[in-house]
Parts: sequence; C-alpha cells; structure tokens
Amino acid sequence: MDCSQGYPGSLEIEHSASIYWTLVNAEIGQLAQQVIARCRKLATFSEDSGSLRRTFLSPPMRDVHREFATWLQPLGTMLQIDAAGNLRALYAAVEPAAPRLLIGSHLDTVPNAGAFDGILGVVLAIALLEGLNGRRLPYAIEIVGFSDEEGVRFATPFLGSRALVGRFDDDLLDRQDSQGISVRKAIQHFGLSPEKIGDAVLGDDVCAYLEFHIEQGPVLESLALPLGVVDAVAGQSRLEFKFSGRANHAGTTPMNMRFDALAGAAEWITAVERAARISPGLVATVGTVQARPGAVNVIAEEARLSLDVRHPSDDIRMRAVEDLIGDAQAIARRRGLTVSWKEHMNQRAVQMAPEVITRIEEAIRKSGCKSHRMASGAGHDAMILAEKVPSGIVFLRTPGGISHDPAESVLVDDVAKAIECGVHLLEHFAVSSAFQKRTCRA
Ligand code: GLV
Ligand code: MN
Ligand code: MN
Repeated sequence: MDCSQGYPGSLEIEHSASIYWTLVNAEIGQLAQQVIARCRKLATFSEDSGSLRRTFLSPPMRDVHREFATWLQPLGTMLQIDAAGNLRALYAAVEPAAPRLLIGSHLDTVPNAGAFDGILGVVLAIALLEGLNGRRLPYAIEIVGFSDEEGVRFATPFLGSRALVGRFDDDLLDRQDSQGISVRKAIQHFGLSPEKIGDAVLGDDVCAYLEFHIEQGPVLESLALPLGVVDAVAGQSRLEFKFSGRANHAGTTPMNMRFDALAGAAEWITAVERAARISPGLVATVGTVQARPGAVNVIAEEARLSLDVRHPSDDIRMRAVEDLIGDAQAIARRRGLTVSWKEHMNQRAVQMAPEVITRIEEAIRKSGCKSHRMASGAGHDAMILAEKVPSGIVFLRTPGGISHDPAESVLVDDVAKAIECGVHLLEHFAVSSAFQKRTCRA
C-alpha cells in the first residue's frame, strides 16, 4: 500500500489518544476491496437495462437505500430517509450532546454512468465506521447519501444538499421533469412528505462536512499521486436555449429558403466550443440537443439545447455566458430564426474551508502520500454544504481521468489510502477541542 511517490508511510498515530490502534494495513486493504465491490453492486441498480442511470427518487434509488441499510444497521446507526430523499445514518457519539461530523456524497448518477462518481464517498464513509469496530467517538458521525447532485431529472443539480442548507424553496418543488412530474409529486410518489423538507435542514451541532470523491480528471494520475485535496470548486452556469425556425419539406425547400432551427443551433454549438478553447480555464459544453418535429425528411422547426459553463473565476464565467448568449442572438438573426433561453443555475465558485484543507493535507501525509492542492471543475455537494459548515473534499486518482462513463474506475490501493487518510482525519477530530467546539453557521 505504499504510494508510488512521496513520504514513507506509517499508520502510527502520533498522539496518545489513539483510537485506531487495532486497524492494521491488512484490514484497510480488505475494507478497500469491499468498498469497490459494494460500489459495483450498487451500480446494478439502474433505471436503464444494460447501463447505469439513477436519477432523483427513481425506483432503483429505493433499492440502493435498502442495500445501504443492510450495511449500516449492523453498525448501530440510526437510519432515515429525509423528505428530500437523502439517506442519513447517524452514528452516535460517546455522549448525547456532542458535535456531529458529516461525511457523504451523492447516490444519483448521470445516464450511462460509471460505478464510483459520488457513491464511492458514501460507501467509503461506511468503511470508516466499520474501521471503528464499534468504538464511539467524542463526536457523532452522520453519513449522508444525497438524493441528487447531478441534476439530470429536473435539469437543476444539488436537490439533496440544498435541502440541508435550507435552500429547497417552493419554486424548486414546482419544477417538472420531462414527463411533467413535479419535484413535489416525485417526493410524494417515493412515499415522502414535501411539507417536511424543512426538517432536513442541518442543526447547529454540525461541525464539518467531509467528502471523498474521485477526481474525475487526469491531474492526480499525471502526478502519480493517489490522493489530492480540493481548495476550490469552480462555479457553474447551466442554461437551456431554444432556437425556433420553420418546419418544411426536406426535399422541396431550396437551401436558401430555409429557416432551419437545428442548423442554427449547430453553428452556435461550434461557436461555444471555439469561445471556450481560446479562454484559459473556461469549459463550456452543449450536452443535449432535441430537434422537433424530429423526422428525417422535415426541416427542424425547433432545437432545444443545454449549456454548461464553468470557470474558477465567477466574473470570467458570467462574462462568457453573456458572450455566448450574444453569439446565439447574432446567429439566429442572420438566419431568420429566433432564440430564447432560460437560466437553470448560476452557482458561484466556492472555496473549501482552509482549516479543513490543512487537516486533510496532514492526513494525506500521515498516510504516507504527498498531498496536492487542486481546484475541482466538477460540482460537488461540498460546494453547497460549505454555505453552512466548514467543508473539505479528498480526491482519489481516477485512472485515465475517465468519469461520467462506464469505464470510470478506481484503484484498490488508492481506496485504501483514502480510508487511511479518513482514519487520520477522524483521529485528529477526536482529539481536537477546537474542532469539537465548532458549530454550524445558522
Ligand atoms: C457533476 O458531476 C458535475 O456536473 O459537475
Ligand atoms: Mn457526476
Ligand atoms: Mn459526483
């Protein structure tokens, strides 16, 4: 389990209040293998046959909850699904009036997903509890499996974490999926009560949030490092565009007499790509296109597209969005089309808590690895939780940098290092009175 680069590793705990003296490398290795096997099993619970898709409160989410219960209940946790569909398992502290550490990530996926994005962080948190062997700490640990981070079903992300910070408003409840089902109805269909969403909000006993997540990019692999620490998560804009033209016969309408909405949209897609290529750090993606009426021999009357724009600087991101709207208008005007757009998300970039970053770096080093600070281009539940509690993210190397794809994977030795890092973090928090005095920013 040595890191391929960095400091010589050791599991020795430096201070006297050692809680993990029984956890040896072989046990960590077994836990790591079990984490991977569990993630692979959970990846079989899908809305699609032959590939993984699990969106907000879809039927397979219930199977995932059931599976988690079989692992969490023997550990003596109190398990509940809150009104936003988040799985929450509380492992009590030695004493009742203790602070609470949250560890988690998301249980939903993109379409055609891999087995580790999000869910690895929740399964790994269980491994940390298992590593305690029943021992109770001076703080409680709450494992959270968020119901939605990806935003696939309702075209807006973070439904789960928004409930914890009190940002799940009525507009969100009225939002509809592609079948016309509202968030409110989806919650009811799952057997939950939308009117109880307020109960999901964090109490002021919560002192920090930790998230273990795959990097989903190539940086750690290129540095030959198993783990990294996130210092900031890039801001995101998500919009929907609609180009409108005129449907007509594909065989009889001369090329210079068309108002082809899809051709206009296609021109704009390449303009989006060009704009992002020339602006350092900017990423912009059109990930979905729907043409109407959608027939091989009919010129498209309407094209709907999604746009996702990210940059660590909010100013640069927002200026880029304005420019891309301007490009869409210019293209539509020149082609005799109209274009409209709706903003679904404008999430600012978020810094992780400096004190949590420092602790994670120490824990990574104690695990025998070199620590690397990096920004995350992907969104994470921690960026929402950070509004209320000091939050931090540990990244695990992602082989080939491949994610949001069935080929997504993780190395068992890296999972072992992440568990070891988690052990050191729990250990630190157990002896840190500064940590235990922290409370949630209400
Ligand atoms: C989450 O995966 C994101 O889109 O950043
Ligand atoms: Mn994802
Ligand atoms: Mn994720």
